[in-house]
This record gives sequence, C-alpha cells and structure tokens, in this order.
Amino acid sequence: MLKIFLIAFFLSKIYQTIERPLVIGHRGSAYLPELTLETQSMGHALHSDMIEIDVCLSRDNQLLVVHDLYLNAVSNVGNLYPNRNRSDGYHYVIDFDLAELRRLTIHERTIPFTNTQVYPSRFPSSSSIPFSLSTLNETLELLLGLRRSTNQQYQLLIEIKNPEYHSQYNRSISEILLSTLAAYNLTELTDPIVIQTFHIEELIHIRKNHGSRLRLVALLTWNWLNESSSDYDFYRSEQGLQNLSWIVQGIAPNMELLVNFDSNGSIIDMTNLTSLAHKYQLAVYPWTFRYDTYKGNFKELIDFFHRKVQVDGFITSQPDLVIKLLEQTTTNAMGELPGISMLLYGLIFVIYLLMKMNTSI
Ligand SMILES: *[C@@H]1O[C@H](CO)[C@@H](O)[C@H](O)[C@H]1NC(C)=O
Ligand SMILES: *[C@@H]1O[C@H](CO)[C@@H](O)[C@H](O)[C@H]1NC(C)=O
Ligand SMILES: *[C@@H]1O[C@H](CO)[C@@H](O)[C@H](O)[C@H]1NC(C)=O
Ligand SMILES: *[C@@H]1O[C@H](CO)[C@@H](O)[C@H](O)[C@H]1NC(C)=O
Ligand SMILES: *[C@@H]1O[C@H](CO)[C@@H](O)[C@H](O)[C@H]1NC(C)=O
Ligand SMILES: *[C@@H]1O[C@H](CO)[C@@H](O)[C@H](O)[C@H]1NC(C)=O
Ligand SMILES: *[C@@H]1O[C@H](CO)[C@@H](O)[C@H](O)[C@H]1NC(C)=O
Ligand SMILES: *[C@@H]1O[C@H](CO)[C@@H](O)[C@H](O)[C@H]1NC(C)=O
Repeated sequence: MLKIFLIAFFLSKIYQTIERPLVIGHRGSAYLPELTLETQSMGHALHSDMIEIDVCLSRDNQLLVVHDLYLNAVSNVGNLYPNRNRSDGYHYVIDFDLAELRRLTIHERTIPFTNTQVYPSRFPSSSSIPFSLSTLNETLELLLGLRRSTNQQYQLLIEIKNPEYHSQYNRSISEILLSTLAAYNLTELTDPIVIQTFHIEELIHIRKNHGSRLRLVALLTWNWLNESSSDYDFYRSEQGLQNLSWIVQGIAPNMELLVNFDSNGSIIDMTNLTSLAHKYQLAVYPWTFRYDTYKGNFKELIDFFHRKVQVDGFITSQPDLVIKLLEQTTTNAMGELPGISMLLYGLIFVIYLLMKMNTSI
C-alpha cells in the first residue's frame, strides 16, 4: 500500500513539473542590479527554472555578461574612464579589456547620463554596494556550483548579443561562446544550456557549420526594431516556422506577437503564432513579463498566456510572482473539484481496492 502511494506521489510530482510552464528569470531577477552574480543567485533561490543572460565581447575577447553594447546605463564607466567614450558619448564594452571592466561598479539600470532609474521601484541605483560585472566563466561556475550545492536544477538561457555587430570587429562571438561552453563540458542537448539570438542566420550557422548539439531558441520580434538583419516577417510565417523547426527547439517572441493588447494593456485576443509554432514542435517562450510596468491586471495576463495561449515558458523579471500565479491557476483550474494530484491518488486507490478484491475472490 505504501509503495503504491509513493508511486502516486512521484507521478503527481512529475505531473506537476511537466504541467507548469517554465519560469525564466529575465537578467536574473528584478530585485538586484541586472545580470550580477547576486541577482542570478536570487533568481535561482526563487526557484526559476532558467536564468536568462546576455553576453558581449570585451576588447580582449572575453565574454562579459552584460545586456547593452555600451556600459553607461548600468555602471560608473563615465567617472572611471572619462575620455574613453566614442563620438556618440557612449562607452562600448568592446573598447575595454577585461582587467579594465573588472574595475567598474554596477548599479540598477538608469537612463544613460542621468541618475533616473528606468524602473523606479527597483533596487536603488544610488546604493554604494560595489556590485560588479560578471564574466560568462563566473556565471557558468555559479550555475554548476549552485546546482551541486543546492541540489536544485536550473539552466541558463544565453543570448548572444548582436553577432553582426561583433563580426564588424572580425570576431565570431558564437565561436568564442561555443568553445567556452565546451571547456566546461557543456555541449549536449541535455546540458543545462540554451542559446538564443535575434540573428536567425547565426543560429543556422551554429547548428550547421559548428555542428553544435546544444538547444537553440530563435528570438523573434518586429522587423522595424532592427534587432538584426533577419526577416522576422518570414520566420513568423508557417514556412518560416517550419524552416526554424529544422534548426531550433523553440522561439522566444515578444509577448505582443502572441496576444493583441489595447492601448490600456488589456487583452483583446491571441494571434495564431503559438499554435503554428506548436504545430512544428517548437516551444514558445515569450518576453518580458514585468509586474512593475504592466498596466493591466498581471494575474489575468499570466492566466491568459498559461491557459489560453498555452505558452511553454515565461521570461519574467519577477519569477517568484509568476510561479505563485501559475501554481494558483494550476490548482484552481478545476474550480471546486479536487486537483489533478488528488484525482491521481484517488484513481490509484480505486485500482488498489479492485486488485485487492480480485485477489480475495
Ligand atoms: C565624453 O565624456 C566626457 C566626460 O564624461 C564628456 O565631457 C564629453 O562630452 C563626452 N563626449 C561626447 C562626444 O559626448
Ligand atoms: C576586419 O577585416 C577586414 C578584412 O580583413 C578589414 O578590412 C577590417 O579593417 C577589419 N576590421 C577590424 C575592425 O579589424
Ligand atoms: C574563461 O574560460 C575559457 C575556457 O576555459 C578560457 O579560455 C578563458 O581564458 C577564461 N577567461 C577568464 C577570464 O578566466
Ligand atoms: C562531460 O559530460 C558528460 C555527460 O554530458 C560526461 O559523461 C563526461 O564524463 C563529462 N566529462 C568531463 C570531463 O567532465
Ligand atoms: C530601423 O532602421 C531604419 C532604416 O535604417 C530606420 O529608419 C528606423 O528608424 C530604425 N528603427 C529603429 C527602431 O531604430
Ligand atoms: C525555407 O525552406 C524552404 C524549403 O526547404 C527553402 O526553399 C527556403 O530557401 C528556406 N528559406 C529560408 C529563408 O531559409
Ligand atoms: C482606456 O481607459 C480609459 C480610461 O479608463 C478609457 O476611457 C478608454 O476607453 C480605454 N481605452 C480602450 C481602448 O479600452
Ligand atoms: C496567421 O495570422 C497571420 C496574421 O494575422 C496571417 O497572415 C496568416 O495567414 C495566419 N496563418 C495561418 C496558417 O493561419
């Protein structure tokens, strides 16, 4: 009897983990300055399934975990290196060596050249805590180290920032990324790494020319944003999605490509992109669910993407909140009826009774 209940318990646990979409901490989490090792750790501690990070190259070809190609929104670079800006006023990551970048302190995101926080209610950008820029190596060691010390799984969703920009400097950021991952023995589909980028042809190159077996995800958005030279109008079409499915495991569109919103942020209806992607076995991970900037009802937003759109993951600044809301919708889905796991226990119990009756007859 105990054995049967243990089996039922494990089945219901497996069911729950399969059932809930992935929750992916955007740049770690919203609670500490973006992409620092501290906020990545916090994203993990809040039970994110994945942590999303961005990588750029330094002048000496080291991979830095940083979102913008320049440093002015998140660091004291202007104070430390006043004469190292370009004619547009910005200080670019690729103009600095790692040893120079290590001297920077990182703060909560501000509008460049001002002290105005982009997200006013987040961690104070004026804090004197010396957060620092993290390298990809440190981030990988954090991943592998925390997976061991906490015995909790989590994965990294690594965005290659602007491969076309990097190639103007005659560097292949993808090649450097793949060889760094290989140095940490991270090369397989089953390893806790997913690579994404806006430049779709770069993903094709990674799969076909480099023969990488890692999971790949295509970032999708509108062409007018100029995120890369890729033609997203094509990749969002049925033929485009089919072509993608030969190369990547999933797509990561901005959420407005999956759902139409009115000007007040209320949901109107959904587009056909999710069902088309699912038709070609592509996972769908929309971005970015930000509780502190969404104008509508955040719970309804999460419910709609979960229940109606049926996305496979949420890229979010508040992973803890999204997990809580998903668990509520999972257990409330059947109204007053008992949850799925209770049904499973009941079913196993009935089977047990039938078996018992059978043996006693
Ligand atoms: C570069 O930075 C210096 C010092 O911060 C500033 O005085 C100068 O105006 C900047 N250059 C440009 C082109 O913005
Ligand atoms: C990249 O290589 C090309 C061709 O070899 C060369 O003309 C160009 O100056 C190089 N660019 C940089 C930034 O090194
Ligand atoms: C990061 O790891 C790669 C691969 O082991 C190595 O080539 C590189 O020098 C390392 N970078 C730093 C800054 O430790
Ligand atoms: C690399 O990972 C594979 C499994 O993915 C494992 O079998 C192998 O032992 C690892 N090699 C090293 C050197 O850690
Ligand atoms: C994208 O590029 C076009 C053509 O260069 C330009 O007109 C447009 O303003 C750019 N859009 C954005 C959002 O930068
Ligand atoms: C998509 O796949 C079709 C069929 O194989 C092929 O003809 C076409 O060139 C592909 N398009 C792109 C942009 O890769
Ligand atoms: C948005 O909200 C305002 C104020 O509540 C309302 O007047 C307006 O009609 C709404 N717009 C839409 C598109 O629903
Ligand atoms: C999906 O929607 C787009 C835009 O609304 C439309 O152009 C396309 O034909 C639709 N595709 C399918 C297969 O329904």
